[in-house]
Amino acid sequence: MKVPFTVATGAQERRTLAVTPLAGHSLAETLAAHGYPLNTRCGHRGLCRGCEVEIRDGHLVLAEGRRAGIGSLIRACQARLVEPTEIFIPARSRMEHRPQVSDTFRIEISYAHQPLYSQEQGDTAFAVDIGTTTVVVLLVDLTTGAILSRSGGFNRQIRFGDNVLTRIEAASTRPGVLAEMRQAVVQETLTPLLRQACERAGRSTSRLAGGTVAGNTTMLHLLLGEDPAPLGVVPFSPRFLAQREVTARAIGLQVDGLRPSTPLRLLPGIAAYIGADIVAGICATGMAYDEKGSSGFLVADRSS
Ligand code: FES
Repeated sequence: MKVPFTVATGAQERRTLAVTPLAGHSLAETLAAHGYPLNTRCGHRGLCRGCEVEIRDGHLVLAEGRRAGIGSLIRACQARLVEPTEIFIPARSRMEHRPQVSDTFRIEISYAHQPLYSQEQGDTAFAVDIGTTTVVVLLVDLTTGAILSRSGGFNRQIRFGDNVLTRIEAASTRPGVLAEMRQAVVQETLTPLLRQACERAGRSTSRLAGGTVAGNTTMLHLLLGEDPAPLGVVPFSPRFLAQREVTARAIGLQVDGLRPSTPLRLLPGIAAYIGADIVAGICATGMAYDEKGSSGFLVADRSS
């Protein structure tokens, strides 16, 4: 049975929804499903207060079974909706949808015109950096090496926690979350960013010959649906570090016009916490060719 649920986000911003209270769904999940994702940076563990909301009318049931009423500040990840209720979401608890994503940089090394991908399959390729917070996609012309367009946005996995440790724990302790995280990064993040990059460049997705993916070791595990649990406990052993090649179909990347067999190459990492993103940075900035080893990353690389 649906109940009226009013959400206020400001003096003039108030919306009443008809919501079916679902057993097992927290208020934070209910809000996210209706377009109000909260700052769940501790991964719904009730530790950070990032998801705090105020009850303006009615009651909510807390995790321990207690009822909280008007005026209470409660953590939405630890509460459930059971009856007609009004809440206020303070600005600090709302997930910002328009992140500042830096996607401008200069590659300091010369690049060879010897593409990784067959140009018979297409004249364009994409490069992706999957960060814990943000994801950036660049479109590259395979003939000239020119960067054609960029797009970037939040990694939608952020609702499961804002750092790798909370995501590792969520994926390894909550049934079904690993698959949900994969869907969040592939369908909710990478798919629209790739589409946007193609639109900005004026190139059809059917012209994509392949893609290269960098990311920290945990992000690459989650992308492939690999259980990241070993990354969270001593001796921090990744399930894989070597380069991997998969297809768009294999990771569930479906964009109109994109061939399901489009190859994606995941760059290799060095260790659980020295991932492919750092390796890519070392190469792209030219640090890898610095004889003096001026980078801290290189020191870590050489000693590991
Ligand atoms: S207290 Fe951290 S997500 Fe709710």
